[in-house]
Amino acid sequence: MTYKVTFLPQNITVEVDPEKFPLQEDGLPGSILDIALGNNVDLQHNCGGKCACTTCHVIVREGAGNLSKMEEDEEDRLDTAEGLTLHSRLGCQAVVNGDVVVEIPLSGRGGHTPPGQ
Ligand code: FES
Repeated sequence: MTYKVTFLPQNITVEVDPEKFPLQEDGLPGSILDIALGNNVDLQHNCGGKCACTTCHVIVREGAGNLSKMEEDEEDRLDTAEGLTLHSRLGCQAVVNGDVVVEIPLSGRGGHTPPGQ
């Protein structure tokens, strides 16, 4: 059984096999951060995936029910995130257990800011 995780705005879809989690060391095993970093998708993670920053903030566009329930720690931390939405999660805490589509806000994207933004 594998899941599809799509990252916007890059529109990169990766197929993940939960049996292979964790894919790398940062964030909870099988979290959006784990899946992003394990597939070369740039997602900021200043605290190393320890629920102590908000740089891994993502907005869930589809499949919110396929993510682990939000714990109080995540909720408190997320409250301080820039550009918080009703569909926001911390990438390092939200563990995937089905297909999801997430958007990485501008602040969480690595590299250069595109011109005009
Ligand atoms: S990487 Fe810091 S809270 Fe997720």
